[in-house]
Amino acid sequence: MLCVGPGGVGKTTNAAALALHAAKVHGRKVAVVTIDPARRLAQALGIDPVEQAQGSESRASDLVALSSEDLGLPEGARLDALILDGGRVFDTIVRECASDAASAQSILDSRIYQAMAERLSGALEFAAMARVQMLLDAGEHDLIVLDTPPTANAMDFLEAPSRIRELIDNPGARLLAGTGRIGARILGLGTSVLTRTLEAMGGGAFIRDLGTFLREISGVLQEFTRRGGDFEQALRSPSTGVLLVTAATTFSVREAGVFLDQLDDYGLNIDAVVLNRLEPKLPAPPQRDAVEAALDSAGLDARAQARAWSVYDGAQAQGRASEAAVATIAAQRPGVRIWAAPRYPEPPDTLPALVKLGASIFGE
Ligand SMILES: Nc1ncnc2c1ncn2[C@@H]1O[C@H](COP(=O)(O)OP(=O)(O)OP(=O)(O)O)[C@@H](O)[C@H]1O
Ligand SMILES: [Mg+2]
Repeated sequence: MLCVGPGGVGKTTNAAALALHAAKVHGRKVAVVTIDPARRLAQALGIDPVEQAQGSESRASDLVALSSEDLGLPEGARLDALILDGGRVFDTIVRECASDAASAQSILDSRIYQAMAERLSGALEFAAMARVQMLLDAGEHDLIVLDTPPTANAMDFLEAPSRIRELIDNPGARLLAGTGRIGARILGLGTSVLTRTLEAMGGGAFIRDLGTFLREISGVLQEFTRRGGDFEQALRSPSTGVLLVTAATTFSVREAGVFLDQLDDYGLNIDAVVLNRLEPKLPAPPQRDAVEAALDSAGLDARAQARAWSVYDGAQAQGRASEAAVATIAAQRPGVRIWAAPRYPEPPDTLPALVKLGASIFGE
């Protein structure tokens, strides 16, 4: 299940809520792959990035199993979580796919590798797909929920990995030794990446090392794609669904419409739209006289009362806008399920809050 949507709408939060819901209510074995979660949410999932950084040497896997007792999971259910870190996922790929341990270590130790893994555009997206492919191959989960980074449009995420794959498919990649600069150009590395890396390393050493490095890394990437198969095919398969998360404002709904079209064109199965942080629809004000009398006796002067009414009117208007947003999406996409999640007063970044959010979106 792919959680997509514009920036800041609640993709990561909803991915976590969905994963937790599937494990706790439906008893599934679930993995959730998150990207850059807020710290409190990460802590709730047992994947605090600060703790992970401190203990990273001692832990072999980035996948952390949550305690099923703490979560109150039914028998056989499971919830694993990880924070996707482009650099670390590449490390795992190198370790798994290098011809031997020594070759893996020489790649990992290379300063070129260290500079490249972080700066390559599309690296995070490629790493996300690669990591999920590894989870699919391992076959230990019934459901894998993949959070996505904020993108202006759906294609940014879906097409990023192919930019990196060109790096592997390019026949030039195997002819690189000794021609660092040209080699990098063949590989499609941006000149800024090259320049910055060159500056960081001192030109001569870089040119000398690049050929060796590219030979080794392209072997690794080839082995990886050979094993991994076609992730895009996996994305389009009937067993992959998409949850489009969006906010219930006029602007976001328009944006969501564009996302839906792009996802359709790409051949993805859109399972549902989640309209997140929906404002409640407030009732019409009760008898105004009675309220005014109550405000008087509470000691509010005329100005304060006027402010109170205008806040109320504003909240009511927001509620109406939320309702209109739902109606707009429903009219545009009669076939798509629409789920709604209310705006909570506190960020839903604890396990109980995520359970509540999951229940409100996906039902008891
Ligand atoms: N239903 C909700 N009610 C209240 N706050 C919410 C709700 N859903 C998400 N939030 C809060 O909104 C903020 C953004 O959520 P989140 O990080 O999940 O968004 P995102 O789409 O993953 O953002 P990004 O695009 O930056 O990755 C967080 O502080 C989160 O706790
Ligand atoms: Mg996020």
